[in-house]
Amino acid sequence: MNPNKALWEKGDFTAIAALMRQSGEALVKSLGITTPLRVLDLGCGDGTTAVPLARLGAEVVGIDIAKNLVDAGNKRAADLGLKNLTFQEGDACNLQGVSDHSFDLTLSVFGAMFAPKPFDVAKEMVRVTKKGGRIEMGNWIPNDPTSFVSQLLKISSAFTPPPPEGFISPMTWGVDAHIIERFGDAGVPKENISMVKDTFYFASPDKSPTRFIELFRDFYGPTMNAYEAAQKNGKAQDLHQQLLELANSQNKSKDAGTFIPATYMRVTVSL
Ligand SMILES: C[S@@+](CC[C@H](N)C(=O)[O-])C[C@H]1O[C@@H](n2cnc3c(N)ncnc32)[C@H](O)[C@@H]1O
Repeated sequence: MNPNKALWEKGDFTAIAALMRQSGEALVKSLGITTPLRVLDLGCGDGTTAVPLARLGAEVVGIDIAKNLVDAGNKRAADLGLKNLTFQEGDACNLQGVSDHSFDLTLSVFGAMFAPKPFDVAKEMVRVTKKGGRIEMGNWIPNDPTSFVSQLLKISSAFTPPPPEGFISPMTWGVDAHIIERFGDAGVPKENISMVKDTFYFASPDKSPTRFIELFRDFYGPTMNAYEAAQKNGKAQDLHQQLLELANSQNKSKDAGTFIPATYMRVTVSL
């Protein structure tokens, strides 16, 4: 089985996504969508951004590599009566069956960055987006102490065996030079790419930062693997402690809940 698919089907990202809804909606609002659009949400999970996009009236296709998340997304769409939203399985590295220039907007929020072949991903996003359309990506930033997930994955990787040779860190999608190089290779001039840092919030009124880290431990493929590896070396407690410290130090909630701001790179590509 494709290891990228196995990684994301291992857990249940819906448990984490539940704390991302507020910022997902805000991000969609900030896209300034006014006219009816055909939108692709790539690496859409269970619809953190796809659902609010559909609620704004866009015709939305969510594509994700994980079958469990596609199923969860289709269930959300059905429960909400959103007939203009469908989720399907697919790989951002090769969007087989998706026609050239068929979307006005291709959006990928912390999604396509996790696909293993970034140059192919950039080419595919450009290929399926209409001329005159745009691509929007949200990507975590490496070595930024305020980019929560990048810090969480950095701590986790110290407890995990080294990745296979040739592995390209997803975090490289948070670096200007790589973004420009990848879209450049897909035929997009540098002037058409804008990159700004923005903030995403993980928010829950009642789940504490400790509970939040437990959700990563139990439901988020990359951290589940780190805990398994750490367990084998008797270091699981050490990993857990470091992640708790991270979450507690970044938590801005004044009550029992969680409110963690996380810096990310927002990329806009005009085609
Ligand atoms: C961190 S989650 C973000 C999900 C969603 N965008 C959100 O904000 O809630 C990353 C998502 O990317 C998906 N993904 C990872 N690699 C992928 C690939 N090669 N093609 C499509 N989706 C992929 C995962 O299955 C997962 O749903």
